[in-house]
Amino acid sequence: MAMGPIGVRAVVEAFGETPLDAVEHQLRLEPQPPPDPAELGPSDVIVAVRAAQVGWVDLLMASGQYQHMASPPYTPGLELAGDVVWRGPEAPLEVGARVIADGLRTGPRSLGAYQRWGGFASYAVAPADALRPLPVGWSHDQGACFLGSYETAYHCLVARGRLAAGETVLIHGASGATGLAAVHLAKRLGATVIATGRSPDKLAEVAAQGADHTLRTHADPEGRISCGDDGESLRDALKRLTGGRGVDVVYDGVGGPISAASLRGVRFGARYLIVGWAATPFVAKGRGGRGAPNANVLPTNLIMMKGLDVLGCPTAISTHRDPTIRGERLAALDRWVAEGLVPHVGATYPLSELKEALRAKWASRVVGGVVVRP
Ligand SMILES: NC(=O)c1ccc[n+]([C@@H]2O[C@H](COP(=O)([O-])OP(=O)(O)OC[C@H]3O[C@@H](n4cnc5c(N)ncnc54)[C@H](OP(=O)(O)O)[C@@H]3O)[C@@H](O)[C@H]2O)c1
Repeated sequence: MAMGPIGVRAVVEAFGETPLDAVEHQLRLEPQPPPDPAELGPSDVIVAVRAAQVGWVDLLMASGQYQHMASPPYTPGLELAGDVVWRGPEAPLEVGARVIADGLRTGPRSLGAYQRWGGFASYAVAPADALRPLPVGWSHDQGACFLGSYETAYHCLVARGRLAAGETVLIHGASGATGLAAVHLAKRLGATVIATGRSPDKLAEVAAQGADHTLRTHADPEGRISCGDDGESLRDALKRLTGGRGVDVVYDGVGGPISAASLRGVRFGARYLIVGWAATPFVAKGRGGRGAPNANVLPTNLIMMKGLDVLGCPTAISTHRDPTIRGERLAALDRWVAEGLVPHVGATYPLSELKEALRAKWASRVVGGVVVRP
């Protein structure tokens, strides 16, 4: 029995040399027949995808740079929201239910049988227990921008960073999907947020989303980081904004020269969270050539003399290794959602413009989540 009309899905044919190479040369759209229920399990569900977030990891994965990956050809799209159009006899969900897929349990970043069901498609299949209800009042776009970004922000700021009310957190890459989620959660935790970024327009949006202070940063060719128009050093700006004390926590989703520069503006005993490498995306697998210098180097003298905690924060890896860390995280997020937390969707594209959406994500053109709609 057909579950709907012929749809469309994206396919990564082979890993690209780089994310953009994959987008331009290895990614195509093709017709997608609706999944055949006769081939599915009793707890499986067919979801008509309404929205899927364009993730940084989608781009890295398309170039073969991620720890858990589907093998090409595969359909990318780590996070989706949609409507149930068929359920197996043992799936406790109603047809028509609005759902969010858990990208750690289904889709390209999951481990196991559901890796091939990415969100850049008209249809996806997931086990019923990998689907959560879309919060009441949310659009599918908002739902697709929720779990990946907010679970990351929680894992980094709370589980690893122990951010507490009254503390000050410096958030690099604050205009991005995970960075803006970190701004939202840090405010809910009662912290003061100093957000950095390169674009005044995007920083104005980040301030409107809750950041207490924004710093427009600039890296000179020698890697020195200055702030604003008068070239104030990052250290001086951080000391000025914290009454000379220094920040308590750094959430670093950017990497490169800003990482080391940040350590000069933290207090004794601060926590430094390694979240990602938006500025140096090829370091994960030593891309740039074997023996290439690591672009992300932290000064051990400052770590030692300031008694710093440097904390790696790989949310998906940590959760796959110890799934028990997730319950508290999801419960806290659900509580904040009930209190009014809503993801910020910065741009939406039709699935037919997926390549443009991926380019926009890679070029950091959008504040918050980027979404494609099949
Ligand atoms: N730890 C985890 O579990 C986890 C989970 C998800 C993602 N990540 C990582 O976190 C990072 C951010 O992901 P995302 O989805 O938030 O990405 P995103 O939406 O593209 O945001 C990244 C932000 O970083 C800034 N940025 C980009 N290139 C830069 C450069 N060359 N120099 C300085 N700033 C730059 C941009 O802000 P401005 O343009 O405003 O400067 C941009 O908004 C990625 O490295 C990703 O792999 C980690």
